[in-house]
Amino acid sequence: MAIRTILRYPDKRLRVKAEPVSEINDEIRALCDDMAETMYAAPGVGLAAPQIGVAKRIFVIDVAENDKPSELRTFINPEIVTRVGETVWEEGCLSFPGIHEEVERAAKVTVRAQGLDGKPFELEAEGLLAIAVQHEYDHLDGTLMVDRVSLLKRRFIDREMRRRAVSDARP
Ligand code: NI
Repeated sequence: MAIRTILRYPDKRLRVKAEPVSEINDEIRALCDDMAETMYAAPGVGLAAPQIGVAKRIFVIDVAENDKPSELRTFINPEIVTRVGETVWEEGCLSFPGIHEEVERAAKVTVRAQGLDGKPFELEAEGLLAIAVQHEYDHLDGTLMVDRVSLLKRRFIDREMRRRAVSDARP
């Protein structure tokens, strides 16, 4: 297992539409292990493959509270099949460190995906899990948190992240 580098906005690789996974083999399972390790190390509650520069339709989520046992879930080739209700949640994203904004999402979702064993499963999610599923699913289509806030906030976040990218690049 290895901790991978998490790409930060405005890295263009975050905008790529990810490709379906055709075969869930050892290579994919190793990638999923790395994604989980990278997410826990950050720390974060979700990570999508494009965030480590891998354009595949995979994300991992663990929304368990700190004092509870981990609930790692791996979603390969996910589809959100139902979205019900509306809710607003203050979201963060490992590709936008330190930035938190309210985003409107469906309150409940049903998601179908394949697990690490290749078997399909269906999950009904609400609360933080539903938010995380929608947030990570967006990453697979190159959609980012910044696309779901007001134009004013989008400009502010864009300017802030570009300013940081420039100062990080200085020796
Ligand atoms: Ni994110």
